[in-house]
Amino acid sequence: MTNNPFTSTQRMLLPSILSADFSKLGAEMDEVVAAGADFFHLDVMDGHFVPNISFGPPVIAAARKVTAAFFDAHLMISEPARYAGAIYKAGAQNITFQVEAVDDCAATARAIGQAARDASPADRTVGITLNPATPIESIYPALEHVRVVLVMSVVPGFSGQRFMPEVLKKCETIKPRLRADQRLEIDGGINPSTIASAKNAGVDWFVVASAIFDKPDRREAIAELRRLID
Ligand code: DX5
Ligand code: ZN
Repeated sequence: MTNNPFTSTQRMLLPSILSADFSKLGAEMDEVVAAGADFFHLDVMDGHFVPNISFGPPVIAAARKVTAAFFDAHLMISEPARYAGAIYKAGAQNITFQVEAVDDCAATARAIGQAARDASPADRTVGITLNPATPIESIYPALEHVRVVLVMSVVPGFSGQRFMPEVLKKCETIKPRLRADQRLEIDGGINPSTIASAKNAGVDWFVVASAIFDKPDRREAIAELRRLID
């Protein structure tokens, strides 16, 4: 478990609570931390940018009481800058926004960066993400302003979808352009059959929802995934 994944260059495993049992979210989070997860990925969906609604600041604030682990919030919402302050204040350390949701990704990264500094000058960060069909060049204007680049390997909206291997080319393209303080993240369809290909494409952070939370033995699921990235 880590509360600052930027202090290490080790590859990290991030359970997405989207596939957890929300009737016992605290226990689910405790279980995967005890089972060896590094930190959490929080999928915020608005039913507008994506055709699904998940949760927002109140649930993040409740989850914050459960663990000191780093929270990586993935905003699949329109107008991400409007909500960033509330999401940082609820306890997210990193906020990643979708490039497709905004007109000017550099301006949005700067605006969310300001919200990050307002929430906590020391330890809040900004990331940018792009859908499988979006060219990698679309994020270049914001690249200098972000600490995380998240390559979506499914069309966002739901967990449990099939991994799209064609996005690995984007990982290979962007990885050499990243600074030492930036991280490459992948999200969607990561499981024991796909995680090694993402590792080989240069990924640092691996988001996993169904391949952890849908398994009866989360400890074994995490151990197997970790063996494949270590
Ligand atoms: C997809 C979300 C993902 C999702 C991953 O819309 O952004 O984080 O929860 O789920 P799996 O790992 O099941 O593909
Ligand atoms: Zn996500």
